[in-house]
Order: sequence, then C-alpha cells, then structure tokens
Amino acid sequence: MNRKVKTKKTGQSGKFKKTAPRTGRMGRTAKPASKKPSAVWDQAAQWYDTLVGLKGSEYQTAVIFPGALQLMQLKKGDRVLDLACGQGVYSRYLSQRKMKVTGLDTSEEMIRFAQSRSDPTIHFEHADAQDPQALPDKTFDAVVCLLALQNIESLLPVMRNVKRWLKPGGRFVMVTTHPCFRIPRQTHWGWDEQKKIQYRRVDLYGSESAIPILTPPFVDSQSFTVTYHRPLQSYFQSLAEAGLCVDGLEEWPSHKTSDPGKRSKAENRARQEIPLFMALRAVPNQPGSETS
Ligand SMILES: C[S@@+](CC[C@H](N)C(=O)[O-])C[C@H]1O[C@@H](n2cnc3c(N)ncnc32)[C@H](O)[C@@H]1O
Repeated sequence: MNRKVKTKKTGQSGKFKKTAPRTGRMGRTAKPASKKPSAVWDQAAQWYDTLVGLKGSEYQTAVIFPGALQLMQLKKGDRVLDLACGQGVYSRYLSQRKMKVTGLDTSEEMIRFAQSRSDPTIHFEHADAQDPQALPDKTFDAVVCLLALQNIESLLPVMRNVKRWLKPGGRFVMVTTHPCFRIPRQTHWGWDEQKKIQYRRVDLYGSESAIPILTPPFVDSQSFTVTYHRPLQSYFQSLAEAGLCVDGLEEWPSHKTSDPGKRSKAENRARQEIPLFMALRAVPNQPGSETS
C-alpha cells in the first residue's frame, strides 16, 4: 500500500494517494499491513469462497456474468482466460457453456478452492497477472477479468500480458465497480429534501488512491485487501500503451429495487441513473496501427 508507481503517460514516479486509515466495523483502526497481496487474498479466500459459493453472488449471477458473456462474443470451444479468477466461479460458468477455460490467480488458497470446487477440465494456474513470465506461449480467444483489476497495483504489465495472450481477433473484457461513482469511502448516497431526489456525492475522483478494505473475518486484525481507485483515463492510457483498443463500454446499474415506501421511487431512479459497474471491451490493435 502506498508504494511508488510510475505514472504511465509521463514516466514520472507517482504515488497512489493513501486514504486515511479506516475504523473497522469492530471500532478499531486499520493499520497498514506489510503483507504481499497474494498473502492477503490467501487469508480472505475462505470468506470469499463462502460469499460467492459454487454459482456466484447475487450481483454476479444477475448482472456481471451474463453481461460479460455477451460482451465476449464467444462460440463453443473458444479458449478463455479467467484472469484473477478467485475461487473459479466464472471459470465454472464458462466451462458449463462449453468454453475451454484457464483460470489464473495470485493466491494459492483461491486456486486451491477453485480446484476443489471445479471440474478437472478447467485448468487453474497460480501466477501474478503482472508477471511478464506468466503463462508463456499460451494464447486465448478471450481474456476476462471480473472485479479484480481494482485489486491489482500496476495496470500496464497486466494489459501487456493481456495483449500477449490474445489471439488476433481476440477480446479482452474487464468489469470493475464503476470508477466514477463507486469509490470506497469517497462516494455516498445523499438525500436532497428540496428536490426530493437521491443523489450521489463524489468527494474524490481524479487522483489514484490505494484504499485498504478490512476483509471479514479479519475486521479486528490488521489484515485487509487494497482497492486501487483509478480515474477512467488511467485505464484508457494503460490499454492504449499496451496496444489494446477499446471497442465497447457498458455501464450496468444494480438490478435491485427498493421495497415500497416514501422514498422508493427516488431510490429506484437513482439506482438506475448511477451505474454500479463498468464493463469495457478491448481488442488488439491491427498490426501497423500502433502509434509511436
Ligand atoms: C474480488 S476477487 C475477484 C475474483 C473473481 N474474479 C470473481 O469475480 O469472483 C479479486 C481476486 O484478484 C486476485 N488478485 C489480486 N492481485 C492479483 C494479481 N496480481 N494477479 C492475479 N490475481 C490477483 C485475488 O487473489 C482475488 O482472487
């Protein structure tokens, strides 16, 4: 956390801004942990596996899984890399739809859960998505990364790997919580009494920040995962620098609705107007189209 990163466009040494330490649900204050991300996710694996289970959480099954599938434009038998696959829930979803799936994750524990929950035809690899040596000589019709880029510190090496892994004509689909409206601790719902509307307040957007998130069941310890907030331009810059061209963008609202009540109409409107997830598709640049 708060490690130095390169600002990709300028090459200057930049920094993720560290947000103020957060008081956890147990009323204690989180302090920075010096653990590697893989170790942190190893610790969170049991909790995450319980949350997601065999088939996925409510948001995953209602919004994210079908939306990402549609964007990937797959046909049966296509080879797909599920990047930062966690306990393999989307790998299973794709395998059930007759794709040949490889899942990759940096956490050994997550990979252990993935293997124990999945059919052996799915191949799982323990590797860091930022590592230029990861999965050498493998290529795919599609690479998908669900709700995980926001947990990875450096985007550019990941995007370069994605470019290396994609066959000509391949597609990269990434889904994140919406970087404009869903920034942990920096965005909130509010109620405007005069206009009778629910609005979204955004306190920070333009600077990159590393936000520690206490992860159950460790809310009373010093273990937490990190969410890296980046403005849209950071995603687009890394994709372009890696030789990937965005050809699709979708913004998905929550599928939920409020129970009937005084504010339910306003809440439902706000939920529809302010998307919860951003889904982006990128394809390799045509040879010869790279800018110098
Ligand atoms: C919120 S989980 C999402 C898992 C899965 N994609 C899903 O939708 O259920 C984030 C995952 O990113 C993985 N991760 C974090 N940093 C990584 C890295 N550098 N390389 C590969 N995986 C990473 C974590 O181990 C964790 O499994």
